[in-house]
Amino acid sequence: MKFFVDTADVQEIRDLAATGLVDGVTTNPTLIAKSGRRILDVIAEICDIVPGPISAEVAATDYDTMLAEGRKLAALRPNVAVKVPLTMAGLRTCKTLADDGVKVNVTLCFSANQAILAAKAGASFVSPFVGRLDDVGQDGMELIGDIVSIFDNYPLFRTEVLAASIRHPMHVTEAARLGAHVVTMPPAVLRQMVQHPLTDKGLATFMADWQKTGQSIL
Ligand code: E4P
Repeated sequence: MKFFVDTADVQEIRDLAATGLVDGVTTNPTLIAKSGRRILDVIAEICDIVPGPISAEVAATDYDTMLAEGRKLAALRPNVAVKVPLTMAGLRTCKTLADDGVKVNVTLCFSANQAILAAKAGASFVSPFVGRLDDVGQDGMELIGDIVSIFDNYPLFRTEVLAASIRHPMHVTEAARLGAHVVTMPPAVLRQMVQHPLTDKGLATFMADWQKTGQSIL
């Protein structure tokens, strides 16, 4: 399972990338706005920190402008994945970019039918939004499971299921259990995943006992 971080905060990305646990990054217009930086600058900088796919989202909604924006974003660095919304124009943009060899992440996916369309359009990734479905009383993880099992029926589909809108570590566990190829999570969730009180307690005991030996390994 690949781990992407869902942020445009370059310092956070740098810190987490140093652990070797980050396979890619996703951004969206909200996260770019939060960074307070120009999209072209921040995406190029992120691409230079993490060699994996870096999703950069178009801002238009019509095909011609989305295509022009997508091409401009893709030209920034070879590891850009252009993010397009799951609309008819977005799917058409996805198909054109994918035919040109550009990686595309189709975002704002809320149904299995939408995910099938993204795969048909040649997307490298489709992003079902788990947390936002949970927020409206639908089971976001059920959608992940549905899409994974549907894609398993069609080995020619190359589209990876990217579980997005992740809110807590249990979402990551469940997405892994269901076979999602990628999970994109806020940095805080990745940091929470490492935490366990018994790890802290066990480490404190080991350190105290080690002190008593008076030894040094180095
Ligand atoms: C994914 O690519 C999106 O940027 C993201 O996961 C949306 O998450 P949110 O619902 O927490 O805004």
